[in-house]
Amino acid sequence: MTIATNADQDRVIIFDTTLRDGEQSPGATMSHAEKLEIAALLDDMGVDVIEAGFPVASEGDFEAVADIARLSKNSVICGLARANFNDIDRAYEAVKHAAQPRIHTFIGTSPLHRDITALDMDGMVAKIHDTVSHARNLCDNIQWSPMDATRTEHDYLCRVVETAIKAGATTINIPDTVGYTAPRESAALIRMLLERVPGADAITFATHCHNDLGMATANALAAVEAGARQIECTINGLGERAGNTALEEVVMALRVRNDIMPYRTGIDTTRIMQISRLVATVSGFPVQFNKAVVGKNAFAHESGIHQDGMLKNSETFEIMRPADIGLSATNLVMGKHSGRAALRSKLADLGYELGDNQLKDVFVRFKALADRKKEVYDDDLIALMQDSATNA
Ligand code: KIV
Ligand code: ZN
Repeated sequence: MTIATNADQDRVIIFDTTLRDGEQSPGATMSHAEKLEIAALLDDMGVDVIEAGFPVASEGDFEAVADIARLSKNSVICGLARANFNDIDRAYEAVKHAAQPRIHTFIGTSPLHRDITALDMDGMVAKIHDTVSHARNLCDNIQWSPMDATRTEHDYLCRVVETAIKAGATTINIPDTVGYTAPRESAALIRMLLERVPGADAITFATHCHNDLGMATANALAAVEAGARQIECTINGLGERAGNTALEEVVMALRVRNDIMPYRTGIDTTRIMQISRLVATVSGFPVQFNKAVVGKNAFAHESGIHQDGMLKNSETFEIMRPADIGLSATNLVMGKHSGRAALRSKLADLGYELGDNQLKDVFVRFKALADRKKEVYDDDLIALMQDSATNA
């Protein structure tokens, strides 16, 4: 993978952190084998960078990152490290087995974080210089993050970003750690850094958004429009608290609205449903029914007007084709809002071709059934047809 620098290209790097930030969701712990299975699929579907874990966190995390690094074929493999030599050395020991290793080191730079680390502004700048230089001596591909960047004073943010670039960082990630920013501000922050920080045009800016106010996808896309060229995200938006930017949302938004957001990713979108289901199963976090792109209802229609429109032209009520994300077909859900056209089409799929009079009769009985049941399944319709035949 060629690492893009800012704003000079339309290619957006997809950095997946399901196995690190996603796994930090309380209750989402995954086994070693499950992590390897997810990483293999991410690698296969075109994810540019996989953040495979936090190697110093535990022996298990270390082993998972090291094995993913050994097995990866195409993706850059990244390990997270706090701003100390021990974390950085441990991260490097794990990722060094990859054909393309990356160390990602970070420190909280906002006033709240400076307080708890008991470092003053100058002390923190010195620490950033020392730790990033140390990482760069081990590895050519270094990502640095000022945690809580969106609540860090702008002058100070420029200063720490400049320090990290001078010390050798090749990607600067701007985290909205607590999901506090809004799209206009997210864009302005990237623009400000590109304008003010010496050397900013030679590195890649990344955006890393959390979803506490439901704006993670919008904030990430706004940052890209301002010049960021790496989006950090997770499958199904898995992540701490309300989660992270969802990979499937940003990737499909860039694809569907390429007319107004002319950027491209390297993701094979037809693998999206497969990875979504895998992550939901192994994390134990089910996907909400109405979740954008991968929810059970994202390609389902129950109302008569929508079903009728879909049967005539699927573009009436769908902006993506199910096949684009690896689903075989739109789901016309049969329920009390369904109309005659959908019932006729569903019955035809089940092998029953009905004349108008017969359809009229079956439709009355179907509506009575739909009033009693939330959803009328294929088996219910077959029973209804068998019953009709017996009573005819
Ligand atoms: O949200 C955050 O700030 C993070 C950092 C470790 C990059 O996940
Ligand atoms: Zn995060």
